[in-house]
Order: sequence, then C-alpha cells, then structure tokens
Amino acid sequence: MQLSVRIEAAVTEAIQLASGGFAGSERVPQRLAAALDHATMSGGARIRPTILLSVAKACGDDRPALSDAAAAALELIHCASLVHDDLPAFDNADTRRGRPSVHRAHGEPLAILAGDSLIVLGFEVLARAAGDQPLRALRLVQALAQRTGMPGGICAGQGWESEAQVNLSAYHQAKTGALFIAATQMGAIAAGQEPEQWEELGARIGEAFQVADDLKDALLTADEIGKPAGQDAALGRPNAVHLMGVSGAVRHLKDILGGAIASIPSCPGEAQLAGMVRAYAERMTPVDLGAQRARATGAK
Ligand code: IPE
Ligand code: IPE
Ligand code: MG
Ligand code: MG
Repeated sequence: MQLSVRIEAAVTEAIQLASGGFAGSERVPQRLAAALDHATMSGGARIRPTILLSVAKACGDDRPALSDAAAAALELIHCASLVHDDLPAFDNADTRRGRPSVHRAHGEPLAILAGDSLIVLGFEVLARAAGDQPLRALRLVQALAQRTGMPGGICAGQGWESEAQVNLSAYHQAKTGALFIAATQMGAIAAGQEPEQWEELGARIGEAFQVADDLKDALLTADEIGKPAGQDAALGRPNAVHLMGVSGAVRHLKDILGGAIASIPSCPGEAQLAGMVRAYAERMTPVDLGAQRARATGAK
C-alpha cells in the first residue's frame, strides 16, 4: 500500500475517534469537531509521517498497525503546533495551507482547544495501538513526548521566541528539527529497532527543511506557499537567507541533504530510503524557482 494511503487512513481514523466515532453526535461539541477536521484535513504535505513510515519500512515494518499509529500521532502533534503557532499570541497568521487559519475560521477558543485535543489524541492513538508490543508503544510515547514538550521539543522551540537572547541552533533544533528526529526515531522504534542511530538522519532532514522553509518565506509569495510570506523579516526571526544570502542558503541546503543521505544507518531498506530523501530534496524545487527569481530581480 502507498504510504500516503496509510497515512490518510490513520489520521482519519484518529479524527473519527476524537469526534465521537460518528457524525452529528449530540454528546460531542460539533464546532470543536469541525475545528479538528480543519486542522488535520486541509492539505498538509504529511512529510513527517512519510519519513516515519519510510524508516519503518527500511527497518522491516513488522508491526504495520503500530507504525501507522505512530505516523498519525506525529502528524497530529505537528498539526496542533501549527494551529497554536498561527494564533494571535504567536504569529497571528490569517492563512495556512491556502485556507483561513483555524482561529480565523472557528475562533480563538476553539483553535486553542483544537490544538490541545490533537496533542492529547496523539498520545491516545499510541496507547491504543500497543497490541502485542506494549514496550514499543511505551517507547513511542516517550520519544514523541521528548520531541513535543520541554526542554527539547517544539514547546521549547516556540519558547525561544520569548527569550531576550536566542540560541539559534537550539531554537531551530527544537522548533523544526525535533519532529523530524521524532519521525526517524519513531519509525525505527515501531519496527523494533533501536532509535539512537536514527537521530542524525532526522536532525539533518530537519535542518534542511528549516533552510528550505526560510528560502520559501523570503522568496515566494503568500499564494505560492499558502500562508503569509516574508514573516521572518516582519517578525524579526532569524532566517538563513538573511544570514547567508540566497545562493549561500541554497548551497547550504544541498550540503545538508548530501550529509543526510550519507548518515542513513545500514539497514535492509537503505537504498530505498536514500531514494526517498533524494525525492524529497527534489520536491524543494519551488526554492530553485524562487532563487532564480531573486537573481533576476538582483537580490543577493
Ligand atoms: C510547516 O511545516 C511548519 C514548519 C516547521 C516550518 P510543513 O511545511 O510540513 O506544513 P504542512 O503540514 O505541509 O502544512
Ligand atoms: C512553525 O514555525 C513551527 C512550529 C509551530 C513548531 P513557523 O512559524 O516558522 O512556520 P510557519 O511559517 O508558520 O509554517
Ligand atoms: Mg512561528
Ligand atoms: Mg508561523
């Protein structure tokens, strides 16, 4: 089965669980259920669960239902982080994935509650999927918690934005890298492998993703990225393009992806996984378009 089909089925099942299992229930607040649906079913790229399942497959994927649950849990946490990130208290963004952000469509109270519900749901999905592998499920819970909260998860990453002095590498590692490390490590854990040797691949893909996102933020339009553009400059946030120029950032991105491929641990599906990382690198072509545009308009 295609990874995307597995991911959509797993996320859909989780959202159905959170919505009371059936539409129109009088015992479930329907507006909050609609906000959960909006937050998770609005065209996200699903890159983190794709990486997770790719690593699980490379490691043998002997418990596919557990891998699918891990993929859904990780995507739910990611979607929650975006709902909260768009709130007025954070980036105050009106659009996400080419649609109104969740608080713009459903109001702030429901956006806060949608994010909260999705975070809890992520861990519930893992607990429910334990089956005959309770130890793996427990390790998945631990890995996901470590990359979600404090001191090194996305909460820490967002927290850096409230500090007077920002440690740039800790900020990027926690804000963006953490969920990519969760992706590679949870893929390994779901398939019964040790997670340590998978950390470097996740960290490198996360770093590349951050540079690509910085390039898109600096060079592409809001229509092209489906969310407000130019936010890093507007909000005074560090951005690789501001630090090293467009061509420097593009070079840096390619170097990181080369390192990511080289860091793949030896495993039965190593070659296929390298192919996935290469395909992912190619999906960043909008970045090259933006770079060409910047060169044409004389930007650095
Ligand atoms: C956006 O992540 C948030 C960042 C870490 C920059 P994605 O670009 O993966 O978002 P979706 O899920 O595809 O919308
Ligand atoms: C969002 O980061 C990532 C998290 C919520 C952890 P950004 O604020 O940099 O990303 P976008 O541009 O809104 O997607
Ligand atoms: Mg932000
Ligand atoms: Mg943002």
